[in-house]
Amino acid sequence: MRRVDVTAGGRTYGVVIGSGALGCDEFPPLSARADGTGFIVSRRVMELQGIRIAGLVERSVSPHIFPMDDGEDQKSYHHAEEYFNLLLKSGFSRKSLLVGVGGGVVGDFTGYCAAGYMRGIGLVHIPTTLLAMVDSSIGGKTAVNIEAGKNIVGAFHQPALVIADVDFLRTLPWEEMKNGMAETVKHAFIGEGRLLDLLRSHDPTTVRGADVMEELIYLSAGFKASVVGKDERESGLRAILNFGHTVGHAIESFLNFRGISHGEAVARGMKAELEISRRLGLIKGDEAALCREIVSRYGLAEEEMRLDVEGVLEHMKFDKKNYGGSLRFALLRGIGDPVFDQEVKPGLLREVLQIL
Ligand SMILES: NC(=O)c1ccc[n+]([C@@H]2O[C@H](COP(=O)([O-])OP(=O)(O)OC[C@H]3O[C@@H](n4cnc5c(N)ncnc54)[C@H](O)[C@@H]3O)[C@@H](O)[C@H]2O)c1
Repeated sequence: MRRVDVTAGGRTYGVVIGSGALGCDEFPPLSARADGTGFIVSRRVMELQGIRIAGLVERSVSPHIFPMDDGEDQKSYHHAEEYFNLLLKSGFSRKSLLVGVGGGVVGDFTGYCAAGYMRGIGLVHIPTTLLAMVDSSIGGKTAVNIEAGKNIVGAFHQPALVIADVDFLRTLPWEEMKNGMAETVKHAFIGEGRLLDLLRSHDPTTVRGADVMEELIYLSAGFKASVVGKDERESGLRAILNFGHTVGHAIESFLNFRGISHGEAVARGMKAELEISRRLGLIKGDEAALCREIVSRYGLAEEEMRLDVEGVLEHMKFDKKNYGGSLRFALLRGIGDPVFDQEVKPGLLREVLQIL
């Protein structure tokens, strides 16, 4: 079992990583043993791995299970209000604890409920997808969707504990794993050299082995934790985590989040932003080529995609990082050497976005 510490929001919490991590004695966290434990659990995960979750429930104080359907539409502001009512009717107090068991959808939603209920109660994340283990459960960003946009309403609310038990990943299809792989590849490009070495020495068949996966999550989650520890609120450095996401989000949003997974969109975004970095004289050609090879090695953005450039550019204008009418990017000066808040002119974007 491995452990990463995250220091944010004025305190430090642990991310316990490994096979069997669900049994760790840090659960339930000391700060939250007082009064009622609400498990918001993905129905799908409950179907597939309910027995393992039952063991955790047994070790909790006054447990309640609230099953949650999966899907982005469930992570909504209206749905959160239903849960607030449900929590109050079930007797939850300011000293209660919420535990989210599922992918990023369940995690973001549970986090938002914990941040809002009675102005904030204890939270534990039990991520069950790779994306949630290496990315969404770490750093305290919580959010729900409203009709006008995704992740528009939210709060920073750090958990008391994160348990990333790699055994959950045994039932996760590779197509879902790829969403987490895209974020892991990003962490390797923007600063975690050991992760880059790991990704170069494996492929989609070997990377799923429990030991390799444990190491990959440890390095990837550890990298995210180190960035968040330096800049919790994204006033500067945390923006490097947006590498690949400015273009990626614009593609997803232009396609109305249909027909393309988040990982595919981010992978295409990374390809575009690597090319922008190269054309601006930042990253060298051979380093950019190595990055592209790693993206394809894990089955991401393999086939070329022709985009409606003007449509994607239109969606990019809504990116939260822009200001003063200019488009702002996190780019690479080299592998492991990111820069953020870089202006990119629409002319260059038009050229790069033609085919990705
Ligand atoms: N808060 C943050 O910092 C942050 C960062 C990145 C992404 N996100 C959010 O994360 C969400 C995406 O998360 P995701 O990629 O985990 O998707 P997800 O939560 O939708 O889960 C993907 C699918 O996998 C299934 N699943 C989950 N665990 C499983 C398991 N162990 N075995 C089999 N199936 C399993 C789910 O039922 C679901 O159908 C988005 O809403 C995104 O906005 C948040």
